[in-house]
Amino acid sequence: MREPATIRFFPVSHNMTRGLFISFEGIDGAGKSTHIDRVAQLFREAGRAVVLSREPGGTPLSEKLRELVLHEPMDALTEALLMFAARREHLGQVIEPALARGDVVLCDRFTDATFAYQGGGRGFDWQVLVQLERMVQSLPDGALRQPELTIWFDLDPHIAAQRLASARVPDKFESQPADFFAAVRAGYAKRRAEMPGRFARIDAAQSLDAVGADVGRLLSDWMKRTTA
Ligand SMILES: Nc1ncnc2c1ncn2[C@@H]1O[C@H](COP(=O)(O)OP(=O)(O)OP(=O)(O)O)[C@@H](O)[C@H]1O
Ligand SMILES: [Mg+2]
Repeated sequence: MREPATIRFFPVSHNMTRGLFISFEGIDGAGKSTHIDRVAQLFREAGRAVVLSREPGGTPLSEKLRELVLHEPMDALTEALLMFAARREHLGQVIEPALARGDVVLCDRFTDATFAYQGGGRGFDWQVLVQLERMVQSLPDGALRQPELTIWFDLDPHIAAQRLASARVPDKFESQPADFFAAVRAGYAKRRAEMPGRFARIDAAQSLDAVGADVGRLLSDWMKRTTA
């Protein structure tokens, strides 16, 4: 696949060793996977150790849970519980140790996807998800572990469907009708309205290069702010 050409000027200093946690979000086909590798490369070029991961998944047990959640029909609460069970493992086994080492953690989907898909898409009780999030993501000091930056690739579901049309066999969620994805998109928008400080929206309907340039600018500005 061709890489976006225009991401440049990434001000990360070599002696900056604090761990960073960035998630990539958006409906199926929005462009997350296309851009996450490029961002990983930019951080590596800047001398940072990068952990690339994904949800649901990221550990052997969490990947088993992923298979169940993506392919088996189940009750909505069961699905939410399995998502958070997988997340708990992923946090404990991969994300927290990486952040403690000072690595950059780039995650293809995280907790916002549960709010968007189970909350928005499936209409599951938003407040129950908030409770599960608190249970699973609380740190010893009581703070909530969240990505410091979430890059939301926002795309009209019809365009996403066209992009995915010939790409692969759809899983349980990908084979949902377009109004499901409209509800997922609304779930992301709601989540962003609740946590605007860490949630950046990218217009993913643009060309590959234009999206890549936006991602580059966004990260550049964010790094300047967080390292200032
Ligand atoms: N800006 C763009 N313009 C045109 N095509 C694009 C653009 N971004 C990505 N694509 C193409 O759209 C398809 C879906 O992109 P990608 O796999 O990155 O989406 P995704 O968000 O990771 O989807 P999923 O959630 O299903 O994994 C790919 O074939 C990719 O090459
Ligand atoms: Mg992907």
